[in-house]
Amino acid sequence: MDVTRRGFVATLAAFAFPAVALAQAHALEPVPARARVKILATGGTIAGAQSRPGDVAYKSAAYDVGVLIKAVPGLGELAEVSGEQIASIGSQDMNDAVWIKLGRRVNQVLGSPEIDAVVITHGTDTMEETGYFLNLVTRSDKPVVLVGSMRPATATSADGPMNLYNAVAVASDPAARGRGVLVVLNDRIHFARETTKTNTTALDTFSSPNRGLAGLVLFGKARWFSRPAWKHTAGSAFAGVIPDVLPRVDIVYAYANVGPELVNAALAAGAKGIVLAGVGDGNATQAVIEALAAAAKKGIVVVRSSRTNSGAVARNVEVDDDKLGFVAAQELNPQKARVLLQLALLKSKDPKAVQALFDQY
Ligand code: DGL
Repeated sequence: MDVTRRGFVATLAAFAFPAVALAQAHALEPVPARARVKILATGGTIAGAQSRPGDVAYKSAAYDVGVLIKAVPGLGELAEVSGEQIASIGSQDMNDAVWIKLGRRVNQVLGSPEIDAVVITHGTDTMEETGYFLNLVTRSDKPVVLVGSMRPATATSADGPMNLYNAVAVASDPAARGRGVLVVLNDRIHFARETTKTNTTALDTFSSPNRGLAGLVLFGKARWFSRPAWKHTAGSAFAGVIPDVLPRVDIVYAYANVGPELVNAALAAGAKGIVLAGVGDGNATQAVIEALAAAAKKGIVVVRSSRTNSGAVARNVEVDDDKLGFVAAQELNPQKARVLLQLALLKSKDPKAVQALFDQY
C-alpha cells in the first residue's frame, strides 16, 4: 500500500470509527420519547373558513381541533398530540367565563404527569390578553404556547398550519420550560407579557416593542434569545388563583377634549377598577384626572397606562399619583393592565399594594 493509499485508509478509519461507535451507542439508548402536547382550541381565524376561495370575508371558529391537527403534515412526528375544544369563538368575543374555564383546564392538564406542554389555538384579536392572564394564573413551569393565524384555514397560503407546527415544536422544546406563557406566529416566539397585535391584517402583526422577542422558530427549530424578567406562572402569586367571577375593570380611553363622562359611565356600570388608556405618559385632560381622583377617593383602583403602545408609565411624572392615589401601569398596555388589575383586586384594594404588584408582574 503506497503512502497516499495508507493515508486515505487511515483517514477513512478515523471518520468511520466514531460513526460506528455512535451507531452502537444509539442502538443501546432508548429512543427519546416525543413530548406529549395537549392542544386546547378556542376558535379564531386559524379555524376560520371562507365560503369561496379568495373571499375576504370568512367565519372564525368553523373547524374543530381534530381538523386543525390533521391539516398539519408531520405534527405527529414532532410530538404526541391530543386535542380538546374549550370554545369556538372569534377572540373578539373572549370573556371572563372562557378565561376561567381555560385557566382551570390548563392547570388541570399541566398537573398531569401524562402531559408535557399545552398549546392553545386562539384568535389574534385578544390573544395578548388571554396569554397574559394565563401567564399570571398558570401553576406550572411546563410550556404554554398560544398560536393563531392571520389568514383563515381555507385561504391560499394559509399561515395556520406552519404556525401550529412551530407552536407544537416550541412547546415540545425542553428549553421552553420556565419562560412563562409564549405566543408563536410568523416564525417568531414572543413572551405573552410583552407582545401586542399591531396591524389589522399583516402576517407579522405581533410585535414586542419594549423587551423584544423570546426567540425565533424556523421549520420547527427554535432559537432562544432571552428569559422573562418579570414574575410569571409557577412563580406568580396568582398561580392557581382562579375564582368563579373576576371583578369588573373598565378601560377609559383618553383623547383631546375628553370629558368625565366615560369615567362616570364606568362607575355607574359597577367598575371596581379603571384603567386609563392615557395619552403620552398616561396623561388625560384635567376633567378626566379629576373624575378619576374622585373615583380613587371612593375606593375604586385607578391605573394609569398609555395608548402609545410602547414605553413605560412611571409614577408622579405629570400626574401626582402619590397625592391622587393612582397606580402606574409600568410597561403594561391598557388591555394587559386591565387583566392584572382584575387579579390584583382579588388580593387588595389598596393602591400601594396594587402598585407593588404592577412593579413585579
Ligand atoms: N376576529 C379575530 C379573532 O378571532 C380574527 C383574527 C384572528 O383570529 O387572527 O381574534
